[in-house]
Amino acid sequence: MKPRVLVTRHVYPAAVAILQEDCIADYRDTYDVMDEAALVKRLRLAKGVVCQLTDPLTAAVIEQCPELRVISQVAVGHDNIDVAAATARKIVVTNTPGVLTEATADLTFALLLAAARRLPTAERFLRDGKWQRWDVDLLCGHDVHERTLGIVGFGRIGQAVARRARGFSMRVLYSSRTPAAPEVEQELGAQRVPLDLLLKQSDYVSLHVPLREETRHMIGVEQLCQMKRSAFLINTSRGPVVDENALVAALEEGLIAGAGLDVFEHEPRVHPGLLEHPGVVLLPHVGSAVTSVRSLMCALAARDCAAVLRGERPQHPVNPEVLG
Ligand code: DGY
Repeated sequence: MKPRVLVTRHVYPAAVAILQEDCIADYRDTYDVMDEAALVKRLRLAKGVVCQLTDPLTAAVIEQCPELRVISQVAVGHDNIDVAAATARKIVVTNTPGVLTEATADLTFALLLAAARRLPTAERFLRDGKWQRWDVDLLCGHDVHERTLGIVGFGRIGQAVARRARGFSMRVLYSSRTPAAPEVEQELGAQRVPLDLLLKQSDYVSLHVPLREETRHMIGVEQLCQMKRSAFLINTSRGPVVDENALVAALEEGLIAGAGLDVFEHEPRVHPGLLEHPGVVLLPHVGSAVTSVRSLMCALAARDCAAVLRGERPQHPVNPEVLG
């Protein structure tokens, strides 16, 4: 009998077709999100799940799904999944790195430019019919070219952002647990420095670390105080990497100039202090939101899920140790 796979929420249809070749796809074609209890009810008899970052694949959920053999996440970040609990049960977890790198780097740069040059404010000004004439100091913003960009986390996406910064003749600093290969540093003109130095010297600080216990609130009061008063914080990684209360206080006190945020600590709730602040550009977690990219992500997750259930090695295991 074909194994049963739960597809928790709406995906691009090709992904469902891929699953149906080898599996029975229990497809919830809806945008609604299930809580833990609803998820357990639907997942209890399934061998696989194609899930999204809105789905709570917690230890408690995993424990109550004895048949589960694979969890395939339609995203590169997987902080909604208790990977340790899955690994303890020898459940394979997969994600979708690679296909969204360039799109996310593009969006990071769009956010940086939008914040620096006050694009949302300028557009609102025009749409509100406030534009009377050209004025020498109308809606002036900050330079981007030849400024210093500090990239925190220098994986695929961080490096793709650095590549874009070269086109703007920016000085690129990065901080990461492990150094990039010398040829990568050379190609990207990037210099590895400790985080505190990066914060002190950068005009733009862009975050590209996964959410883990050690990265939760890695940007808090202390770090924001180290930044230049003219600097911007850009976050397209995960909201909880930044202590949002500290960020709002730093913005209100003028400790930094502004921020460009695609992710938030309590999505989809956005801190009212951010909504009110004119120096902040806010987006609803759309870093990889390009149709071709999102459909590739769905297909990749489906393909890896089906591969595991066929007894094959998936392309992108998060916990390869369970594959033996
Ligand atoms: C990811 O992949 O982790 C993004 O946040 C969604 O594309």
